[in-house]
Amino acid sequence: MKVSLIMAQTLDGIISRSSNEFVDWTGNADKRFFVRATKKAGVIIMGSRTYDTIGRPLPGRKNVVLTRNKSRISNDANLVFTSQEPQKLLLDLKAEGYKSVALIGGSEINSLFAKLNLIDEVFVTIAPRLFGIGLTLFNVSLDCNLQLVSSETLEENYVLLHYKVV
Ligand SMILES: NC(=O)c1ccc[n+]([C@@H]2O[C@H](COP(=O)([O-])OP(=O)(O)OC[C@H]3O[C@@H](n4cnc5c(N)ncnc54)[C@H](OP(=O)(O)O)[C@@H]3O)[C@@H](O)[C@H]2O)c1
Repeated sequence: MKVSLIMAQTLDGIISRSSNEFVDWTGNADKRFFVRATKKAGVIIMGSRTYDTIGRPLPGRKNVVLTRNKSRISNDANLVFTSQEPQKLLLDLKAEGYKSVALIGGSEINSLFAKLNLIDEVFVTIAPRLFGIGLTLFNVSLDCNLQLVSSETLEENYVLLHYKVV
């Protein structure tokens, strides 16, 4: 199962100014890239705080939301709330026929997967903003080596970097 981390950040490495901020500053080209890449993966995995900032399941993709809150229940076939261990979750998704998943934040869930060495590649859009203080891609200590696959200008001032984890 290929796990692709897909995120956007400011030039100074901030993914949001607070845990309940809805991220709307990543640019139109990044939004198009996000839709294309996550639909191709078929599944998006996110933390409950990220889901709450979006407020609804994203269409055309299976939405898996990690939460320990057992009272969170979904009536939507495309939306699953789960507290499964990441490895077990990926095995179950593989058994359902998925070959790749998009991990889409936030900091806490990215860290959970990174600590377990489950991330295969990283796509980061660099937005032309500086926030100074806020959440970053991860919130734990890591030591992970990356290899640059490609870099492209998505639209004026926005750069998309693609790294694979080595
Ligand atoms: N710039 C970007 O590309 C980008 C992308 C995504 C998100 N964000 C931003 O990131 C912020 C949210 O990030 P965050 O780090 O605060 O939160 P998060 O990673 O989105 O979600 C954290 C939540 O995940 C659940 N969780 C954590 N570990 C778990 C485990 N082992 N098993 C089951 N559930 C677990 C818990 O939910 P419960 O409390 O419900 O148990 C926890 O409160 C938001 O502002 C969002 O807008 C930015």
